[in-house]
Amino acid sequence: MSNKNRMKPGLMVVLLAIVASLVSVGMYLFREYTEDDYAGRPPVLASSEEETIQEVEEVEVSAEDDPRFKDTESILVIVNKKHPLAADYEPSDLVQVSVASNGVQMMRKEAADALAEMFNAASQEGITLVAGSCYRSYATQVDTYNYWASLYGQAEAERVSARAGYSEHQTGLAIDISDSSGATYLSQAFSNTAEGQWLYAHAHEYGFVLRYIEGKEDITGYMYEPWHFRYLGKEMAKEVHGQNGLTLEEYFGIDGGEYE
Ligand code: DAL
Ligand code: ZN
Repeated sequence: MSNKNRMKPGLMVVLLAIVASLVSVGMYLFREYTEDDYAGRPPVLASSEEETIQEVEEVEVSAEDDPRFKDTESILVIVNKKHPLAADYEPSDLVQVSVASNGVQMMRKEAADALAEMFNAASQEGITLVAGSCYRSYATQVDTYNYWASLYGQAEAERVSARAGYSEHQTGLAIDISDSSGATYLSQAFSNTAEGQWLYAHAHEYGFVLRYIEGKEDITGYMYEPWHFRYLGKEMAKEVHGQNGLTLEEYFGIDGGEYE
């Protein structure tokens, strides 16, 4: 081999160093690439861990804890012998109803507007409705309950009147409706009048449902009251009415019946 073709030892060392550096940089880059490639992927779970996560996602909120039924601002708030209101609770959006009424009567704005629509629709069909008792404060309910207890005795009063704090009238979403003569006001005979029957057939179209259905005293806590309607909003009232005689307690899965 000629001197011309022989590589000098110093140059050989430099070349080897360059090759070694390139190899290490390549290995480093490859390592980075593989780590990045896994970043963002969910960790691989053992099958038992996976099952636990799915179970947690599928658990539903119990109706008793559902804020729609507990929140006093909600149109779906539930009040019965197991679900009272605070003594100082008063709805913030009460307005005077704009329909024929027994004295000045108040309801929450949305319910009062729906009531006017319902009474006008009834009137178009020759049915005259009158708003009886609507919103009742805690203090008024004390008097109401005492009145019935003095008239019928406490045991019978419990079937027709709520103790103060337990009345749906305190929500501003309930109304006792009368025929124009008042002859059947707060009487089960109201169910046989043209007014009572019109309401039974149409109230849900305007957002109201009959609250204390016949034969459901053990669930609602009250005897049949064909005059007491509860505002729920049109969508929900139609849904509940379509269940063929289910009480709100049954439809929503909420406790009712007697006091604790
Ligand atoms: N009459 C109904 C039950 C009330 O007193 O609220
Ligand atoms: Zn009532």
